[in-house]
Order: sequence, then structure tokens, then C-alpha cells
Amino acid sequence: MAYNVPRLKDFSPAALDKAAERLLAALKKESADIKAESDWKPFRDRWMARKNGLLTQINELWLKAAPKDAKRNVGQRVNVIKAAVTETVEKLRPNVSGTAIVTGVSAKAKVGEVRAHGQQAIDITLPGNRRPLGAEHPVIKTMNEIVSVFRNLGYSVEKGPIIETDYYNFEALNFPPNHPARDTQDTLFVANQESKPLRDRLLLRTHTSPVQIRTMEKIKPPLRIVIPGKVHRNDPPDASHSPMFHQIEGLAVDTNITLGDLKGTLDHAMKALFGSSVKTSFRPSFFPFTEPSAEMLISCFICGGSGRRRSEPCRSCKQTGWIEILGCGMVDPNVFEFVKNHGYDPRRVSGFAFGMGADRIAILKYGVDDIQLFFQGDVRVLGQFG
Ligand code: PHE
Repeated sequence: MAYNVPRLKDFSPAALDKAAERLLAALKKESADIKAESDWKPFRDRWMARKNGLLTQINELWLKAAPKDAKRNVGQRVNVIKAAVTETVEKLRPNVSGTAIVTGVSAKAKVGEVRAHGQQAIDITLPGNRRPLGAEHPVIKTMNEIVSVFRNLGYSVEKGPIIETDYYNFEALNFPPNHPARDTQDTLFVANQESKPLRDRLLLRTHTSPVQIRTMEKIKPPLRIVIPGKVHRNDPPDASHSPMFHQIEGLAVDTNITLGDLKGTLDHAMKALFGSSVKTSFRPSFFPFTEPSAEMLISCFICGGSGRRRSEPCRSCKQTGWIEILGCGMVDPNVFEFVKNHGYDPRRVSGFAFGMGADRIAILKYGVDDIQLFFQGDVRVLGQFG
């Protein structure tokens, strides 16, 4: 006779133990009766079906029906039963590869592994399960390449928080409160910060430059660091914009650092990254934390600087032959004022800083025409960058 879950009248521990014992004996007997793969599903459903499986029945007939003071005792036993049922059902689950459950020790079982219960064997003649190989994300790969160019020049790597304070993202970088230069940053602010003093209010960092300050507070000059990281700006997503993107910042501080050091370092780095025939060019710009400031351009490595490629206008440089690649400049002495007490006396030290967009460089390097492809998580796209 097939086992049925009885209604309980007696909820004493002894009676509960007896009921549980009977149920577990039935589980054991029925699981031993599984002989073929096709036996498993009905077995699982009889015990575990949500609607009227035996587990659901003991929930209704034992646990829910139990008087208040017996609930705890019933619950403990029901938990043990649940674990036993789940374990038994899982143990007997046929392999995904479709290996049959065999009775007795068959020829197959001799070459494969025989499991203790149900005598399930692995058929080693079936093809194995392929484990797909992962690929480094193209943006991370690009960042690592850029970082390693600077590591080879003796730079070390620093990181900082993505949720930043107004102080590090703006104030200490010489963006005074209400200064219009802040508007260029399209900042995403954390909500409900108005009760805090301005400098403590939180925002998503708009650039990796705050880590310049954080590192100078921590490490005395001379300093040579690169800072790879994620940044956010309130830019609607399109083919060339994403509200989340990546930058690599650089900072070198010592006595007698000059604009010549800045140009020489960046020229070397661009040749290492894009090939030795790449030329660099500097154009005046403005950043509150550097003075003078510049934008650096590289000759277009897609069209070789000619502005045309395969007799078509070059799209990578918009036919100009040049590509804007980073912002840079000599560290503004006003920035050193904020870290003066950490050994950065603006009269004694000087330095240069630069920041570049890693996603843009990855787009150029890999000839991708839409930045969104990097962040949609489609393995068919990302798998191509192994
Ligand atoms: N932080 C600047 C930006 O995001 C780039 C930059 C870094 C400029 C360091 C100069 C020096 O636009």
C-alpha cells in the first residue's frame, strides 16, 4: 500500500517521532524502487510537487493543524523531513547528459563511476560538458594596458571611492563653490544631502582626479601614480556617451617637474600604446586644478593622420587627422595648498597631471562604433575580445 500522510490527533513528541519515522521509511522504500530514469520525475512530483506533494501535505496536515504549543516540535521534525526528501530527490536526479540509471553493475558502470545510491553511472563515452572560456572585458583590458605602460615608467597604482564628497571631487581641486567650471561636470548627486555642509555632500565622482588629493594626503612627495577607475556623469546614453565610463588619471609630483616632463612622458606613453609612428600635439585648454592646462591630441592611427581611409573620409578623426585623447596640465599651486600639511609645499614642489577616457581609447583601438555595446553584457559582443 502506498504511503499516505495521516492526519494527526496526538501531537506529543513521541507520536510525532513515530509519524516522522513512518514517513521516512516510506521515502526510503520508494527511492529504492527507482530503477529507470523515467521513474525519477513521478517520484519527485509525488514528494515535492507544490500543489499536492507529500511535503505540502505534511505542511497542511501536520504543521498548520498543530496546536500552538506543539508547533515548535512539529516544525523541527518537518524540517528534518524536508531536508531528507530534498536530498534523496537530488541524489537520484538523472545526469543532464542523459545517463541512464542502471540496475546492477553493467558494463558501463564498470568503466564509469558507480554511485552508492540508485547505482547511477557516468557514461564516459558521451561528450563532456564544455566550459566556455571567459574573455577580459575590452575596457578593462585597455585600462590594464595603459596602466602597464606607466608601471614600466615607475608609476604605482592608486584607487579611490566612486561615491565621493564634494570636497574631493571639487573643492580641493580648486573648483570653488558655485564656480561655473562645476557645470561642465554634469554631476549626479546623491539625494537628500542638503542638511550636510557642502563639502561633505556625496556625489558620484565625475572624474578620477579626487584620488590625486586622497593620495597626496596619504603619501609624501615624490609621487608618481596612475589611477584607473569608474566615473559617472549625467549624460544621456548614445553611441559615444554613457552615464558610466572609465578614466585613467596620472599624477607626478617632485621638485622641478616641468611641462617638458609632461610632454615627454605622455609622448612616450602614446607611442607605447598606439605605435611608434604616432605623433602628439598639445592645444591650450582649461581645468581648475591645472595651470597651464592642455588637451593632448594624437595623430589618427586609423588613417595615419591623412584624414582619409581607403579613399573615404576617416570617421575616427572626423577627417582632421588628429584625435583628442586626454586632458592634462601642470598641477595648480592652489591644489597643493589643500595638501600643504602633508608635505606638498607649493613653493617647493611642482607636478603634472593627466586624465584620459579608457572607453574612448578602447573604442578607437577595437574599431567599435557604439560605446553601449561595452555595457550591455552581451557575450556575443564581449566574447570577441579574448
Ligand atoms: N579630470 C579631467 C576630466 O575629467 C581630466 C584631467 C585630469 C585634466 C588631470 C587635467 C589633469 O575632464
